[in-house]
Amino acid sequence: MADLTVKFKIRRQNPEIPGKDKPYWQEFTLTGVEPTDRVLEMLHRIKWEQDGTLSLRRSCAHGVCGSDAMRINGVNALACKVLIQDVGNEIMVEPILGLPVIKDLIVDMEPFFDHYRSVMPYYVNNDPVPEDGRERLQTQADKDKFDDTTKCILCACCTTSCPSYWANGKYVGPAAIVQAHRFIFDTRDQAAKERLNILAEENGVWRCRTIYNCTPACPREIQVTKAIGEVKLAIQRGKTDGIVKVVHAHQH
Ligand code: SF4
Ligand code: F3S
Ligand code: FES
Repeated sequence: MADLTVKFKIRRQNPEIPGKDKPYWQEFTLTGVEPTDRVLEMLHRIKWEQDGTLSLRRSCAHGVCGSDAMRINGVNALACKVLIQDVGNEIMVEPILGLPVIKDLIVDMEPFFDHYRSVMPYYVNNDPVPEDGRERLQTQADKDKFDDTTKCILCACCTTSCPSYWANGKYVGPAAIVQAHRFIFDTRDQAAKERLNILAEENGVWRCRTIYNCTPACPREIQVTKAIGEVKLAIQRGKTDGIVKVVHAHQH
């Protein structure tokens, strides 16, 4: 049983308390840490044993809910999936970048969800339900076209690691494009055209400069940049076919 001493440096901020309303760093030392402990558990220990005012978001603690995205040693990740042995015994923890900080590690996710909502992230099919009352069928090959993007848990690790998004928060961002991809390439859905037109606009896919930070940041190992590339291609094809109408200077 290893018994490590681990130093945490945590970026904190409380807009409601004068003197703490600007970001500042605070250090904490934990002893009795195992290499297989998770960063989330250690943040709990700090909160429970040393400073109850430390604020963070989490729910499932098992990489499913997507609520504990944070920057750990400069890399976006879910704190519940990162082991101490993966990040060493000096650990810097910050809120994800590009969204307003509410308190400590908690950011305002509303701008992120506004982008998500803007791409029609839901299934559209106005045909009557098949008469036998069964599912709308599709082949395995058709399912494979969007299988990867169904895994997204909306954690925001990708969007908040993207320099294009940091530079311009109006960019819809990789997560919203992943969500749009999941429906655009579903053969049972009927609103691909609308979504492609939305993403062909000024703050859509063309703000992606293929910087590729988003893909390694994804805790679900979704091929984010590949999905964005497929949407870009579909928009270009849609223009040739007259389905996509928006023409904008950002296309290249
Ligand atoms: Fe998170 Fe990956 Fe979805 Fe981005 S694509 S929101 S990183 S799960
Ligand atoms: Fe950003 Fe990913 Fe594109 S990091 S620029 S969305 S490839
Ligand atoms: Fe749910 Fe980490 S707490 S994904």
